[in-house]
Amino acid sequence: MLATRPEPSDVALEARGISKRFAGVPVLDDVDFSVEAGEVHALVGENGAGKSTLMKIVSGILTEFDGSLFSRGRSLRFTSVREAQAAGIAIIHQELNLIPEMTVAENIFLGREPRIAGLFVDRRALGRAARDLLTGFGVALDPETRVGSLRVGEQQLVEIAKALSLEARVLIMDEPTSALSPSECERLFGIIRKLAASGVAIVYISHRMDEVSLLADRVTVMRDGRRVLTAAMAELTPERIIASMVGRDLSLATPPHTPDRSAEALTVHGLGLSLPQARGGWKRVLRGVSFNLHRGEILGIAGLLGSGRTEILETIFGASMGRREGRIVVDGAEARIDSPRQAIRHGLALVTEDRKATGLLLQSAIRDNVSLPSQPLQRRFGLRDDGLETRLAREAIAGLSVRCRSDEQVVAELSGGNQQKVVIAKWLAIGPRILLLDEPTRGIDIGAKKEIYDLVFRLAGQGMAILVVSSELPELLLLSDRILVMQEGRQAGILERREASEEAIMTLASPRRAERAGLRAGPATAHQPERPGGSENPPSDAPPSSPFPMSRQ
Ligand SMILES: Nc1ncnc2c1ncn2[C@@H]1O[C@H](COP(=O)(O)OP(=O)(O)OP(=O)(O)O)[C@@H](O)[C@H]1O
Ligand SMILES: [Mg+2]
Repeated sequence: MLATRPEPSDVALEARGISKRFAGVPVLDDVDFSVEAGEVHALVGENGAGKSTLMKIVSGILTEFDGSLFSRGRSLRFTSVREAQAAGIAIIHQELNLIPEMTVAENIFLGREPRIAGLFVDRRALGRAARDLLTGFGVALDPETRVGSLRVGEQQLVEIAKALSLEARVLIMDEPTSALSPSECERLFGIIRKLAASGVAIVYISHRMDEVSLLADRVTVMRDGRRVLTAAMAELTPERIIASMVGRDLSLATPPHTPDRSAEALTVHGLGLSLPQARGGWKRVLRGVSFNLHRGEILGIAGLLGSGRTEILETIFGASMGRREGRIVVDGAEARIDSPRQAIRHGLALVTEDRKATGLLLQSAIRDNVSLPSQPLQRRFGLRDDGLETRLAREAIAGLSVRCRSDEQVVAELSGGNQQKVVIAKWLAIGPRILLLDEPTRGIDIGAKKEIYDLVFRLAGQGMAILVVSSELPELLLLSDRILVMQEGRQAGILERREASEEAIMTLASPRRAERAGLRAGPATAHQPERPGGSENPPSDAPPSSPFPMSRQ
């Protein structure tokens, strides 16, 4: 694949000696970075290392900084994103930047709409241009759909299409695959290779080592606002990259722990869920799920896209729309849980998968976010006070090593991984006895992942009962005492730790019709079958080559 690319020669974009402070705090320190025409240059580093900030500087989003930018030997200074775009530099944002009220086509061509006589937007031309672009990309999205009604992965595709429509010379992709399904990822990788072959310079930011090894010609590692390594991928190994990212050796291992199998924290009998359909009628998305969860036990939930994993957590937590069936027993007593509020009262907490939509108040301070779910409890006991909130927030920040200036900092300013830690912190602040985790390490770097794993083990060690959904099989295998495998809304089986393997899980998780056709998905298969109607994340299909569970998500 490397051989088919043009020899990278001319520097498409160069940043020299870039330094940047936010409110006096240094975030980038004298960073040099360059990307050449026709190369894919991966930019990696832990959460908060400064990757997105550096890319915001080279794409004209942040205009206040020290240092200089060059393109093909010419010095540049952008005062706006427009100017950077005019210079051929486009960025696909980590956080989606679309306008939900507008259509797909309007979003893609925002500010550049084809016009009739230079005045009125030519809606037909707009729709056609958008459709051509999406079709070329292999995406079947109606350009007239409101962006707000799309799922996150589809919005990400629109964001990518928007950047592609600029026909940039330098294309920056900041974690573009974080919400894409495996087949959407494959499609994107194909496009990236094609663009690079045609001479586009690509900067690719990702926490997923498998993607980096697959795509990158060169890799730059950042740590604490500094560039610590730039080298050809051919000369690197994932282990070496990870070591320079975290600046220390990381060992991921399951500490010895024994759940108390005599004490049942949660028992679920015949859990089911039916959702109302747009055209009337009901669709069963979950049926006959029965399991028990002991004190100090970590029960993993595995399954493919749309198999009902998230629905199990939401249904238990009283957070699902639709018709529910089944019984829930908490600590030996029948529990009626019709709302998250009741769930919290029974000692449950749910960390959701989509932190932006349901997890956080982005414009509020860390402190307010951390104390959010505990406020009803505090008020009930007349305890609501700022001192307590501050204490909770400080404990959370220290306990989870949240990288921030202070507990007053607005969550939107934190890096992605640190936002996730705030979500977990706020739920721990209510002191739950049963913790439900949905994709707890999405978008999180390897160092922070380890901290979250350690935290989960520590909580289990203190007797907390934990249910965890993850698309990463290595993560589930590392964390879980047992693994419940879902298949098309049904429970396909529960594996004990000693019998659990990627192979065993995939065998149970794969749809029967595929098995009959001899298409059983193994852990090293690139494509997992996708099914319609699911809002979940795709399963992990990362090859088990690395000791580190690099996420598909
Ligand atoms: N607008 C802002 N105001 C204040 N601090 C900021 C702002 N944007 C970023 N930061 C801080 O700058 C540092 C670098 O953040 P950045 O988003 O560049 O990290 P990152 O490497 O992209 O991390 P991630 O992998 O989590 O996306 C972080 O400590 C972050 O909190
Ligand atoms: Mg970032």
